Amino acid sequence: MRYSLDKKEQIEIDFWKKSQFESSDHFSPQNLNNKLQECENLAYRLQKHQVHIQGKKEILEIGAGQGWASCFIKSTYLPEANFTVTDISEYAVDSVKYWEAHFKVKMAKTFAAKSYAIDAPDDSFDLIFCYAAAHHFVLIEETLIELKRLLKKNGLIIFIYEPTCSRLLYPLFYRYVNKMPHSTPEDVLIPSRIKKMCKSIGLTYENYYDPKVIIDRNIRTTQYFNFLHSFPFLQRVLPSSSDLIFYE
Ligand SMILES: C[S@@+](CC[C@H](N)C(=O)[O-])C[C@H]1O[C@@H](n2cnc3c(N)ncnc32)[C@H](O)[C@@H]1O
Repeated sequence: MRYSLDKKEQIEIDFWKKSQFESSDHFSPQNLNNKLQECENLAYRLQKHQVHIQGKKEILEIGAGQGWASCFIKSTYLPEANFTVTDISEYAVDSVKYWEAHFKVKMAKTFAAKSYAIDAPDDSFDLIFCYAAAHHFVLIEETLIELKRLLKKNGLIIFIYEPTCSRLLYPLFYRYVNKMPHSTPEDVLIPSRIKKMCKSIGLTYENYYDPKVIIDRNIRTTQYFNFLHSFPFLQRVLPSSSDLIFYE
């Protein structure tokens, strides 16, 4: 079932209000445990893109959820950088305090914002990123136009750990992922579609397929991704996982 944009965004916003383990009322051990696993996956992916990350000073995260990724990156890689943490849900952003305390860091700014309407001046950031979030944004083209506006000269946008699939298999895979139990509607990015968008927006786009499994998943999913890892030519066609890089 496809939701209207308003309805879909409201589901995303309310998830963080109602969540049993991830609401801003308390910091649950389950949440801590899950996100520390995600940190390992993020670290694996960042190490591949290190050259793009190092030395960055003004950083924006979009679709940040509770902002654990920005807190982790500041504490581990970029202690001098200023981080602005945003998510569509104010209930998610309310939890940044837990991660600031866990990683002993302070974010420069935290506020609720849609990926395609962010309250910040032009040319504000030299790195804009999201982790496992862009496939939730719906308005991808509008988001990329907004991020291009916010990007400083020689800046970089990176969408980390996104599900991807070919245009051919998209209808099937879309149906499959939304049949599984999820708390919010799921989607998947189509690299060829994004490439076309970038051409008209004036962004250079690089797609890095990487189905390596770092996080504990069920056996079937792990076997599938291990298989895909061994046959790189299939990663363009079958459902896979990607890091997407954009710059002017
Ligand atoms: C799968 S979660 C990932 C959250 C976070 N990056 C993490 O790894 O915990 C997707 C996130 O995107 C946010 N989101 C959905 N649509 C959005 C939009 N249009 N603009 C900004 N954030 C959005 C949701 O509220 C949610 O926090």
